[in-house]
Amino acid sequence: MPSGTRRSFSLTRSRTRTRHAKPNLRYRIARVRELAPGESLKFMLPIGNVDEECLLINFRGQFHAYVNRCRHVPMAMDWIDNQFFTEGGRYLMCQTHNACYEPDTGECIAGPLPACGKFLYRVPLEIEEGVIYGRTPPQPFED
Ligand code: FES
Repeated sequence: MPSGTRRSFSLTRSRTRTRHAKPNLRYRIARVRELAPGESLKFMLPIGNVDEECLLINFRGQFHAYVNRCRHVPMAMDWIDNQFFTEGGRYLMCQTHNACYEPDTGECIAGPLPACGKFLYRVPLEIEEGVIYGRTPPQPFED
């Protein structure tokens, strides 16, 4: 490692940006047809001065997106890459301590107590002409 270079380690898979994201921009994530019910897709979204890893899911034909950050400990939820749904596809589950989230609301309904009742950070979506766009979540992260 060259001298003067610092490596930073993070529990999330976010990457620091050199410039702040512009507010009110929307970002293309995927085409509707790319994601069948029960599937998920990870993408990066500029939030503040960080590119945050997020997840897009198709839950029973409806699309939802969240920041990939568990509400128990702020770390990525997919220990196995891009695996968020429980077996059978009913819930989203953090693989570290098994917190379960409602896919359509992001509410934690089971798992470690500090996470229960909290919500994943929702990424607002827009769908236009078969393309899914995401916007920066409106609220700051609490953790
Ligand atoms: S970090 Fe997700 S359940 Fe503990």
